[in-house]
Parts: sequence; structure tokens; C-alpha cells
Amino acid sequence: MPTSRPGGGHQSPAAVSTVGLRKSFGDKTVLDGIDLRIPAGSVFALLGPNGAGKTTAVKILSTLISADGGQAQVAGHDVTTSPDGVRAAIGVTGQFSAVDGLITGEENMLLMADLHHLSKQEGRQVTAELLERFDLVEAAKKPASTYSGGMKRRLDIAMTLVGNPRIIFLDEPTTGLDPRSRHNMWQIIRELVTGGVTVFLTTQYLEEADELADRIAVLNDGKIAAEGTAEELKRLIPGGHVRLRFDDPDTYQTAALALHEASRDDEALSLQIPSDGSQRELRSILDWLDAAGIEADELTVHTPDLDDVFFALTGSAKVPAQPGRPAQPTQPVQPAQPKEDVR
Ligand SMILES: Nc1ncnc2c1ncn2[C@@H]1O[C@H](COP(=O)(O)OP(=O)(O)O)[C@@H](O)[C@H]1O
Ligand SMILES: [Mg+2]
Repeated sequence: MPTSRPGGGHQSPAAVSTVGLRKSFGDKTVLDGIDLRIPAGSVFALLGPNGAGKTTAVKILSTLISADGGQAQVAGHDVTTSPDGVRAAIGVTGQFSAVDGLITGEENMLLMADLHHLSKQEGRQVTAELLERFDLVEAAKKPASTYSGGMKRRLDIAMTLVGNPRIIFLDEPTTGLDPRSRHNMWQIIRELVTGGVTVFLTTQYLEEADELADRIAVLNDGKIAAEGTAEELKRLIPGGHVRLRFDDPDTYQTAALALHEASRDDEALSLQIPSDGSQRELRSILDWLDAAGIEADELTVHTPDLDDVFFALTGSAKVPAQPGRPAQPTQPVQPAQPKEDVR
């Protein structure tokens, strides 16, 4: 379930906004005019295949590198004219860990507390709290190099939180993690948002964006190919339909005759009506069924999944196989058999 914050709408202040953000390395244009607006308190996922420019975007927004053009504001500060203001408001967990393996988890945390000019006592208190919260108490006195991948990521995020940031950038926080650690990380991210933090997440995993993000932007060829909620993105491509199933063959026949635009499955006693799955279309289908006195025994809404969207938008075959899923086909696809989504 995405950690949605209903009612935020466009009134909520933007935690991050960009207009026409551009960046090239040599003659390679990586970001070719990026516009983003991320409401405070939400989770935003920047989704794209390897090399799409996700890390570049995070680096610009966290003031590690500068853009070639356009504007970016983070926590109300311009990244170019007020980088210190930005830095004071954010935490960044990079794609590659900031954890020092030679010292213990606890020492890493205390070092962070020093960097944030906390007093010794405050530093010890914050460290103890965060080690507890991220289930690292037992490992605290061991060198971080002995930690598993999941533990290192947890320590990394704990270190980021020492500065009490309002906005956190997580660059591919689960890449390379086993499924259990990945689910752990998802839980951590959800808890961060519950605490009011804005999360800017990059990921190559459609499933992850679907799970966590309020809004998703698909980065392709230097541009935002599409932006919206997972549901909105899924509705962008054809293949959605409403399926009506009947127990009784006679009722099925009546309905099939009445709904001549529907495609029939006589064996399953079911009818498929093309639909974008929107509330408006569903309502009109339901109204129509009521008016015709037809009562289906089961009604399901079928939307294409994010994989379909991703391939339709990017035409990319360069998406990594997702954990627990087979490798993707090499052709941009229309959804042959959209995932069933019983409502
Ligand atoms: N410092 C750099 N110098 C030259 N090219 C770079 C540099 N940083 C990134 N790139 C290139 O920019 C593109 C986008 O990189 P990156 O932002 O790391 O993508 P992602 O994080 O989506 O995998 C890649 O082609 C990468 O090789
Ligand atoms: Mg990257």
C-alpha cells in the first residue's frame, strides 16, 4: 500500500521542486529539462533503468554537483544560491554506502553526531535511540565491515537521521538486498513518512515504486516520460477492462446480448468491457448494469501493471530482472494478459 496522504492536494508546500533542470557530462545529455513538484510529507519515486540519470538528479538536489541549467528548490531553498539551507534540511543515503567499515556501527553514529555538532550527551542519546530503532543494538560494538548488506543499509539510514532531516534522499535503497531485507527497508521507509519526513527515492524496481510511492516519475532519455500515482500511470496504457462473471448461464446469455460491445468468454461465463478503470467509467458501467437489471456474481477491474507502463513508456528492455520475477521480455509490449486486480 502506498503511504498516501489524502487531502494534501496541490496546496501542500513543495518539499522539492525543479523547473527545466539540465545536466550533461561532456556531450552526453543526462537530464534534459526535468520538472518536478514533490509535496511535503509524501514519498516520491524516480524510476528509471540503470544509467537513466537518477543518481545525477539526487546529486544535484542534494547540492553535491551543480546543474547546467534550470532551477531547483529543496525545502524552500535554491540549490544554487542557498546550498547551505538545502544541506541543513536534508539527509542523503547514497547508492554506495557512507558507512566506514573499519569502525563499529556505534562509532559511525557518534561520528555523525559530531559532524552535526551535537553535544557528547546528545550524540550518545540520539545514537542509542537510532540503534534501537533500527535493530542494531546487538551489532553496535562490532566493526561495520562485519554487517550484512541489510544491516549496512539500516546503519546508513540511521546515520542520515542523526541530523533530523525533513527531506531524505534514498538512492536505490534496496538494490542488492535479499527479499527479507528489502521488505524491512520498505517498512523503515513507511515509518519515516509516518513521522512526517518527505522521501525522495530512486529505484529500478517498478514493484518498489508501486509499494511505496505516492507519486512516481519515469525517467527516460533525460526526460520525465510520465508522472503520476501508480494507478494513474497504469491507466495511461491500454489493456484495462472490467470483467463480469456470472454463475448462471441464462443470466450470462442475457447480459452478453445486452452488452454487445463486451468480449465474451462462454466457458467462464464472463464478459470483458474495455475500461480505463477510472471511477467515472466504473460508475457508468455500474449504472448501466443496474438500469438493464443485470447482476453479475463477480466484478473485477483489470489494470495493466507498472511493468507494462514502463515498457510502453520507455521502450526499454534494459530493466533488470526483479527479485523473485523472471527477466523481462526484450520487446516493448502491449500487455497481453493484464494482471488481475480484484476489487
Ligand atoms: N561524473 C560523471 N562523468 C561522466 N559521466 C557521468 C558522470 N556521472 C554520471 N555519468 C553518466 O551519466 C549517466 C547517468 O548516470 P546516473 O545518474 O548515475 O544514472 P542512474 O543513477 O540512473 O543509474 C550515465 O550514462 C553515466 O555514465
Ligand atoms: Mg544511480
